[in-house]
Amino acid sequence: MTNASAIIDIEYEQPACSTRHAWARLPIEPQPHERTALKAKITALLKEKNAVMVSHYYVHPDLQDLAEATGGLVSDSLEMARFGRDHPATTLVVSGVRFMGETSKILSPHKTVLMPDLDATCSLDLGCPIDEFSAFCDAHPDRTVVVYANTSAAVKARADWLVTSSCALDIVRHLKEQGQKILWAPDKHLGAYIQRETGADMLMWQGSCIVHDEFKAFELEALKREHPKAKILVHPESPADVIALADAVGSTSAILKAAQTLHADTFIVATDNGMLHKLRTLNPNKKFIEAPTSGNSATCKSCAHCPWMAMNSLAGVAKVLESGSNAIDVDPSIIDRARLPIDRMLQFTAQLKTQASSGLVPNIGAA
Ligand code: 13P
Ligand code: SF4
Repeated sequence: MTNASAIIDIEYEQPACSTRHAWARLPIEPQPHERTALKAKITALLKEKNAVMVSHYYVHPDLQDLAEATGGLVSDSLEMARFGRDHPATTLVVSGVRFMGETSKILSPHKTVLMPDLDATCSLDLGCPIDEFSAFCDAHPDRTVVVYANTSAAVKARADWLVTSSCALDIVRHLKEQGQKILWAPDKHLGAYIQRETGADMLMWQGSCIVHDEFKAFELEALKREHPKAKILVHPESPADVIALADAVGSTSAILKAAQTLHADTFIVATDNGMLHKLRTLNPNKKFIEAPTSGNSATCKSCAHCPWMAMNSLAGVAKVLESGSNAIDVDPSIIDRARLPIDRMLQFTAQLKTQASSGLVPNIGAA
């Protein structure tokens, strides 16, 4: 970036990332004076445009801290969706990956939803194209279609229920209790974990996350031997043998909660390393170690950081706020249908929260 007060031109490191899936462009880290100028500029633009920042835990620490400092949110994908829908701002700046921006747009069609880089996607979304997914659904009409949030708007529009890793267990357990058979997509590891936990009848799409799929159980066991008192925190997009070693399994916010509540000084964390910023800020006296992605079976793409999350930058946020570019659009012919499974999930989880203390189970109409 040459001049923070002019229209911002983003420069990238080349090559940014060598994953075979990613065309990710890693924005160049701003110098301290550029960082300060960009933060001031974004803060002023947010006010001027009646906008709010919504960031995921995996994006650059600057985007997490600035979101919170300006009255926005840093959280998991479920809370990002809820916050964006309920916030009075007319523009949402979503730092994360494309499905997060699309979910916000589906829930708030009259708001402008901007993203720092529209090419920031997700291997789960890429691995579940609508035509093939539709054919899969058509072949199994007796099953309730449950899809993970990491999918396109078109896939959501074929679903009966949406879930994130924060609520997938509760929702599938609820559907099982109603005697429903499930068609699950796209993450095979999360699906298998939920199947093991609930015993539900689940037919699986075979997608995976290129980041979590790389954690290695053999090397994790070796690391645990070096730190025998450490607790292991795992995101359920990880392989089953990694989940089997966990002291706590859950969404990004569940991992954060476990780090605060489990009695340990040291934690080994099997999720995207962007998460370490919040873990360390909230727990300054605890030690957090990245779970291994390297080892005998490692590949060039083993680095525990999502190449698409890494495309978000302060310069990108300033640029889209200033120019109004990179607005998310969702096909009007599917937007209402895509909202249905998301609303169902948000209603279910809202009831779960209010009924948790009474021990009652939410009763949302089955698909
Ligand atoms: P959370 O829903 O736990 O925030 O996870 C989103 C994601 O993309 C994990 O890789
Ligand atoms: Fe998708 Fe994995 Fe990146 Fe999450 S970390 S956005 S699941 S590729």
